[in-house]
Amino acid sequence: MKCVDDFRLKFGKGEYVPIVIGGMGVDISTADLSLEAARLGGIGHISDAMVPTVSDRRYDTKYVRDKLKQYKYNVANTDKSEVQFDLALLAEATETHVRRTMERKRGDGLIFINCMEKLTMNGPKDTLRVRLRSALDAGIDGITLAAGLHLGSFALIEDHPRFRDAKLGIIVSSLRALQLFLRKSARTERLPDYVVVEGPLAGGHLGFGLDWAQYDLHAIVAEIRAWLAAEQLDIPLIPAGGIFTGSDAVSFLDQGAAAVQVATRFTVAHECGLPPEVQQEYFKASEEDIEVNSISPTGYPMRMLKSSPAIGSGIRPNCEAYGYLLDANGNCAYINAYNRELALHPDEKRLRVMEKTCLCTHMRNFDCWTCGHYTYRLKDTTRRREDGSYQLLSAEHIFHDYQFSKDNKIALPAAE
Ligand SMILES: Cc1cc2nc3c(=O)[nH]c(=O)nc-3n(C[C@H](O)[C@H](O)[C@H](O)COP(=O)(O)O)c2cc1C
Repeated sequence: MKCVDDFRLKFGKGEYVPIVIGGMGVDISTADLSLEAARLGGIGHISDAMVPTVSDRRYDTKYVRDKLKQYKYNVANTDKSEVQFDLALLAEATETHVRRTMERKRGDGLIFINCMEKLTMNGPKDTLRVRLRSALDAGIDGITLAAGLHLGSFALIEDHPRFRDAKLGIIVSSLRALQLFLRKSARTERLPDYVVVEGPLAGGHLGFGLDWAQYDLHAIVAEIRAWLAAEQLDIPLIPAGGIFTGSDAVSFLDQGAAAVQVATRFTVAHECGLPPEVQQEYFKASEEDIEVNSISPTGYPMRMLKSSPAIGSGIRPNCEAYGYLLDANGNCAYINAYNRELALHPDEKRLRVMEKTCLCTHMRNFDCWTCGHYTYRLKDTTRRREDGSYQLLSAEHIFHDYQFSKDNKIALPAAE
């Protein structure tokens, strides 16, 4: 019987343990978590979601405070078009985040950054260009283009000196999305180095509609693999979403996947950025406690715990401090939902907005408990303490469990 360790991910001359820890914004896949993956010979992701905010928390910068000070006069204004990101500061924050992480890298693995196109930041093209280029400048090993079709993203960096040496990949959930991307980026004469195929059981935003349950990851991977073979394109495929055991991973590797991308199992690692009390909520969850809803202002469905404080919260939009989801005209679906509710209940002290959520603020505060479908199985991966709480795991333990386990078994951690 095979285990994941019988396989290797090959990138050029490099060989890696074929386990990729997926990006989890905002600072859920921390630098510490990604560094563990790299130390153990695999691939870890940091995320560039809300990087100035993350930099403030980790590196004692004051980007959020200063931006809020600059735009304080606009807080009560429903028009947010004036609230702009300073591109030089955005570059500085991204470089700090990436450089500080890369300086600490040990071992033979790689560190990638997850970059979401849907973070339009009131200037989609300019802010994305800065984020991508600054990550390359600061020495990131690779960039995974996520949450969006990224039809123009390669063009934003094609004149960067590292465009052909850094690993560049894209996340898609359908063959059609991949075909669109390849057609649009053909002009740059550079194929992606890998394609993450994310199925409907993943955490975070989904590349499916609310009919997600009708799709199957194995089927999507098989369709994309057959098309690539017919086109004689050799691009490593990395399935993601619901791969919960080493044996699940082997089922994909055996069929030609280059690696697997996993995340949910690592949400209960010490190195994960979620606060310990939130990690206990993940452990406690049963299948009925998890839903896919439409409250993300991005327009993508998102999976989360039904008990997330973000659901129904009616806080005032916080775009002067954050504003990561403002479109090119300064709009966000939450602002509209909030204003409608405010007009209906002008005297209400605590508004409830059910339609959308202020995702920036709630992700920043770890109040939007996004999670993968199999979160309800996390309790089976650890020991329960006498007080009813669950033992957290080390990232190394989880990584090695994926790497070496057989027969769908999950190794429990040593008792505390
Ligand atoms: C808490 C959480 C946050 C996530 N955030 C992001 C994100 O910011 N960007 C992204 O591309 N994918 C995100 N994902 C998806 C993962 O990177 C990964 O592809 C997927 O969850 C793998 O499936 P699994 O969680 O069932 O192992 C997130 C997943 C989780 C569980």
